[in-house]
Parts: sequence; C-alpha cells; structure tokens
Amino acid sequence: MTAAQPEGVQTSPAFTPRVFSGIQPSGGLTLGNYLGAIKRFVDMQADDFETIYCVVDLHAITAKLLEPDALRQQTRELVAGYIASGIDPTKSILFNQSQVVEHTQLAWIFNCVARVGWMKRMTQWKDKAGKNQENASLGLFAYPALMAADILLYHATHVPVGEDQKQHLELTRDIAIKFNHDYGTEFFPITEPVIEGAATRVMSLRDGSKKMSKSDPSDASRINMTDDADTIAQKVRKAKTDPDALPSEAEGLERRPEARNLVNIYAALAEQSVEAVLRDVGGKPFSEFKPMLSDLAVERLSPISGETARLMLHPDEIDAILRGGADRAREIATPILKKTYDIVGMVQG
Ligand code: TYM
Repeated sequence: MTAAQPEGVQTSPAFTPRVFSGIQPSGGLTLGNYLGAIKRFVDMQADDFETIYCVVDLHAITAKLLEPDALRQQTRELVAGYIASGIDPTKSILFNQSQVVEHTQLAWIFNCVARVGWMKRMTQWKDKAGKNQENASLGLFAYPALMAADILLYHATHVPVGEDQKQHLELTRDIAIKFNHDYGTEFFPITEPVIEGAATRVMSLRDGSKKMSKSDPSDASRINMTDDADTIAQKVRKAKTDPDALPSEAEGLERRPEARNLVNIYAALAEQSVEAVLRDVGGKPFSEFKPMLSDLAVERLSPISGETARLMLHPDEIDAILRGGADRAREIATPILKKTYDIVGMVQG
C-alpha cells in the first residue's frame, strides 16, 4: 500500500493489499463513528488498491430485532453519511451485507471453526448480553464469526476500525490461522487491524471513562452527525471538564480523561497532532477552548449533515448504488467462497 499503509505493517506478499470495513445501521452516526472509522475510510481510498465499505445490516439485528422500516431508513442514511463524508462509490465498493449472501455462507464455515470459548471471551458479548446471557440471541453470540467472514470473504489485508473492535479483529486472525492450519493451507490472509490517529476511542462528553456511543441513553453524551450548529455548541459547552487550564504538552493530559478527549477530538477534526494542538492552546481555560472546538466541529460536520439530508431525498439512487456495489462485491466474494467450500470438501456440482 502507499501513504495510507501504517508504518511497520507488512502484508504477506501472497495477498494484494485490500481494505475492508463495516458499520452497523443500528442508529444514527456519532462523532465517534466519524472520527474513528468513516473519516479514516475516506483517507484510505486510493487508486492502487481496493477499498470495500459495508453497511452491516445482518449485524444490526443481533442485539435486538429492529422495526423493518427503521432498518431500511437507517441503512440508507448510513450510505448517505458515507457518501456525504467523502466515500466515492465509483472508487470504493459500497454495499450492504445482506445483498451478498456469501457473507452468511462463509460465516457458517467459521461458526464451525471458531470455538465457543473464544466467543465467550469477547468483551462486547459480555457487555451487550449483560447478566441475561441465556436470553441473548444466538446471532449476538456468533456475531464475531460473521465479522470474520465479512473481512476474509474479500481476502482483505487491512481493516480500519476504532479501538473497540480490536478484540474482534484478533479473533478474525485466530479464525484464519485455525482454518489455514486445520486444512493445511494458506488460503486466508492474516489481517492487520489499522487503529490509528488521535480519535481511535472518542469518549462520552459526560464521562471520560465511557466510549461515545449511539446506545448511551443520554443524548448529551454524544455528538450526532445530524446535530445542528446550536446543538453541537450546547453539547460542547456542557461537556464535562476539570477546573485546570489546558497543558502545553501531551503528558499534562494524563489522568485528565475529559480534557484529553476534547483535545483528541479537536486534533482529529483539525487533522493535527495532539502535540501541535497543545502548542497552540496550552494555557487556555476551557471557557476559551470549548468555543474553538464547537466552531471547528460545526465547520467540519455541517456540510456532511447537509449533504446527507440532500442524498436522503433520493432513496432510489441510494438503492442503485447499493445494488451496483453488491454486484462488484460479489465478483470478488463468489470465487473465494467457492474455493473455501472446495477446501472444506463440499461437493460443488
Ligand atoms: P460499529 O457499527 O459499532 O462502529 C463502526 C465503527 O466506528 C468505530 N467507533 C468508534 N471509534 C472511535 N470512538 C468511538 N467512540 C467509536 N464508536 C464506534 C468502531 O470501532 C467501528 O470501526 N462490529 C463492527 C462492524 C463490523 C465490522 C465488520 C467492522 C461488522 N463487520 C468487518 C470491520 C470489519 C461494529 O459493530 O462497529
């Protein structure tokens, strides 16, 4: 890969560099999704390798079944958000998971490769199933095997994600290693997670120890990509901080999770390093820094929310983009699934 390749990451020469990532259409996008994922997907688009971005609608029903109209709406909104943020559907392959049935077919094989013990160790399973594991869906338990299938169905070598997906990507590597070992093959690549930049873990605005999330009951805890300028300004103004001024060096953010979060968000939006931001704002009180942050957030986000709303006026065009993307995705996926079945010993007429 070129400039987008993270330093020190080596791809096995047997596999052409290919980027895959996905987002669940389980609600509106947050600033965490944007900075931790979509913005980086955009940066990774390049002419000399493929980028494949997916709306993982099959994953979206694992925690709870959604209202069908809501799922349809959220799927289209996510596609509009991807495009409004700069994903170019003529460059990247942009599609929804359920239209490429090979995802579930490969996931079945991986259900048989992965071990129950591996799934039980997943922190997201523990968090989402909570105390009532007996009542969680089987889909939620098997979720990481479907995620591994999403990635390995394309022989993807690099997967840009936020910090919270790291464990799932380690499991994807474990599945590829076990499959390759059990069948005496090197068919699946050992995928590299790409978790980089200042905003790999954007935290709640109300509690610097919790991830910013669309499922947090408090709307004030997150910036939604559809929030208007006044709402963004109000949420930033009310964001939890401490009484001290900002430090001039990154070490000064240790044990100040809320301050660190706001500086990280600023750095990611401004496309600067945390050190460079602190050189400018060190010594300022939050009463001065917060308006700078909300102005920058509005400047960056309002064109995206405007364009998302405009694209949503044409759902047929969005559906056509998904259909075209699914056709292109299938061209890569079909031979890889066929070869997998062949390796496993499934007779293919
Ligand atoms: P999901 O839909 O929860 O989140 C989508 C992406 O946004 C990132 N993200 C964050 N990054 C930084 N700070 C935050 N507060 C924050 N919140 C979310 C996530 O890390 C993710 O990159 N299992 C995945 C979807 C998936 C997938 C895949 C991803 C399914 N198949 C294959 C990569 C490859 C998920 O639930 O992401």
